[in-house]
This record gives sequence, structure tokens and C-alpha cells, in this order.
Amino acid sequence: MKQQPDDLKQIASFEESHEFNEFAQREQDLSSVPGFINPYFIPHDSALRDTSIFEGREVLNFGSYNYVAMSGDPEVNQAAIDAIDQYGTSASGSRLLAGEKTIHRELEQTIAQWKHTEDAIVLVSGHATNVSFVGNICGPKDLILYDLLSHNSIAEGIRLSRSDARPFGHNNIKGLESILKNNRHKYEKVLIVIEGVYSMDGDIAPVPEFVRLKKEYGCMLMVDEAHSAGVIGEHGGGVDDYFGLAPDDVDIKMGTLSKALGTCGGYLAGSAGLIHYLRYNLPGFVFSVGLSPPLAAASMKAVEILQREPERVQRLHQNIEFFSSEAKRLGFDMNRAKGTAILPIVTGRDDLTLELSMRMLGEGISVPPALYPAVLRNKGRLRFCVNSLHTEEEITMALETLKRLMDDLTDHDE
Ligand SMILES: Cc1ncc(COP(=O)(O)O)c(C=O)c1O
Repeated sequence: MKQQPDDLKQIASFEESHEFNEFAQREQDLSSVPGFINPYFIPHDSALRDTSIFEGREVLNFGSYNYVAMSGDPEVNQAAIDAIDQYGTSASGSRLLAGEKTIHRELEQTIAQWKHTEDAIVLVSGHATNVSFVGNICGPKDLILYDLLSHNSIAEGIRLSRSDARPFGHNNIKGLESILKNNRHKYEKVLIVIEGVYSMDGDIAPVPEFVRLKKEYGCMLMVDEAHSAGVIGEHGGGVDDYFGLAPDDVDIKMGTLSKALGTCGGYLAGSAGLIHYLRYNLPGFVFSVGLSPPLAAASMKAVEILQREPERVQRLHQNIEFFSSEAKRLGFDMNRAKGTAILPIVTGRDDLTLELSMRMLGEGISVPPALYPAVLRNKGRLRFCVNSLHTEEEITMALETLKRLMDDLTDHDE
């Protein structure tokens, strides 16, 4: 039985809890800044393309993951509409028991072919895909090694897992190798988890070096391709395309449907045996509804368009290059971001970052802030994302506006 500490106070409603009160205090501190407008939950009344509609007017949009303009694309929309006409809006059951649709398997085969794997499985959310897979694929005799900057969904999966887990420094191959050297022999399975492109910093992982280690030490390698699939590589194929990897160099290619593919959901692509096992055993798949049919059809159409229209990825790459050179010209700090569609500009203090984000919106440019705890305290940044639809004029306009506002605010600070 649990011992009762002397200072324990029984609480009947969540609003009395310390978690709730700490959060309320943090909100109050932020909103007491003069001129504060909440930068979160800004409602847009359109698809997020190079522009979007905010409060009835068109604003430039640099906050979305619609990297190759699939969300809002007429063909993708039509695929979703046709699927609703055929199947309705829901799978209406777990696929294992009642919710399976022909379109689900078609999508999985399309993803497997695109990602050069034997098979794939799709789930209703990218976040849930990581939590469920990382949380359940390893047991008490196993070890999970993960990059220190891993996304929350990977961290949550690790908390759920019954295996041992250890982080290694960001992209620190030597650090990982030293852990493996000293510990590999103590465990049955070792799973190494990295991201193709890191979501807060916009840098690309040196995947071939991880492949070398996983082969040398007999481990499994999982790459979260949320921000790399559809973005990096000549054809937007992700890490395998970018680095010219062999099909089985990465054991589990995880990705989301919500970013370059413009819909919602997550996938795991890998060997036929692994995917077959997951189909019957992965809790987030077995005990959850199948992907909504319009999302399955729209995702499939998006992969088809991505492969048919390489010019989308080329345009995206040109915009990434152009944004980076303009940011350099204007003297901005992009930290380690390089060659990806996530191009954060370091703005420093959290209050300054918040104010800049709001002032940018006032000037008709939507770009969200990334603040502590998502990044280090006072290493706040405006997290620009470019897509294939942005024009050079839009990019220059946004960056020159930011420069003017930053100069303005720092002048007033002095
Ligand atoms: C690296 C990474 N993995 C997983 C996810 C979760 O994906 P989704 O938003 O599609 O649930 C995200 C979301 O931003 C992410 O950045």
C-alpha cells in the first residue's frame, strides 16, 4: 500500500491541482505583458497555402507543413470527396474487425512502393503512431536509444515502453557508438530512434552513419520522416532518396500524412513480417478506428501527384535556397537549420519572440513562435516553414518586415 505523506492534500477537482495552478500562473504572467495578444489558436478560414484567410483578410502564411501544397489541391480535394461518396466519412470500426476498406490497403501499398519497403501500415495520427510503436515494440530485455531532440511523440512512447531507454546527444554518432560499445551485449533488441529532419531546428540527421552503427552492432533503426518525406531528396522521397540508401538500410520508416501529404494520420513502412505483426498486435492500430476513407484517398492521391509532378519538390527546394540566402543577407541567425523546409529564425527572449510573432501578424504575415519548453529558454525563434507555392517576393517581403520589426523593438529596448 502507498504511504501517505504528511503534507498530502486530497483534491476532488482538477482545478485545485498544482498542475492546473502552475499553468494558470504561467498564462497570467504571459498575458500581463503590455499589448499581449494570445499567439496560439489563431483561426484561419482557408487551407494554409502561401497565403491564408485570417479575420476575413488574406495573410502570408509561413506557419504550415503544407510543404508541397497538397492540402487545398483540387485533385486531392476531389479524391477525398469521391471517397466520402463511396465510403462515408468514417471507417466506422477497427480495421481488424469491421472497418477495413479497399482504399486502406491501396494506400499502404502506395506508401510501401514510395518508401521502397515491402509493406506499410497506416494509423489515424502521426503522434499516436510513434507513441504506440515506440511504446510497444520493445520489452524489458531491450534498450531504446534516442536522439536528445526527439519529438514529444517519441518521448511519450519511451515513457510507455517497459524497456530501458537512453538518449544520446543530438546527432552525436560518437556518443551513440560509445553507448553501444559498452551496452549492446546486455540486451536482446536495441532500437535506435532518430528523425530525418528535426522539427524545431530544421537540420538533417546524418542517417548513413546511423545505418553503419546499426549494422555494426546488430540493432534496429527507426527514422521518423515527419519533416523529411516529401521534402528532402531530389524527388522528395525522404532520407532514402536524399542519401541514396538501400531499401533495407532503415528498418522502420515512420512518417505522417499531415505534412507533405496534406491530410492526417501516420504510417510505418518496413519488412512484410514486421508490418504483418503490427497489423495484429500494435495497440494504436488494433484498438483504434481505421483511417477515415477521405483521408486515405486524399493521401494516396498526394503520393501519386508527388511522384508525377517533380516540379513541386524542385520549387520547394528553390524556395528553401532562396529563403536561406535572403536570411543570410539580412544577418539572421538560423542556428543549425539547413536544406529543409523548416527555417527557424532565432529571435532570443521569449517575450520578444511573442511580440514579434504578433506584430508580424499585424503586418499580414503569419509565422508562429517557438518558445521554451519547445526550445531552450530565451532561445525563442520564429519558426518559418516555406512551401512550393511561396514566391521570392513573398519571402523577401516577410524577411524584410521581420528585420524592420526586430530593429524597431531592439532600438526601444536600448
Ligand atoms: C517529428 C514529428 N513526429 C511526429 C509528429 C506527429 O505527427 P502528427 O502531427 O501528424 O500527429 C510530428 C508533428 O509535428 C513531428 O514533428
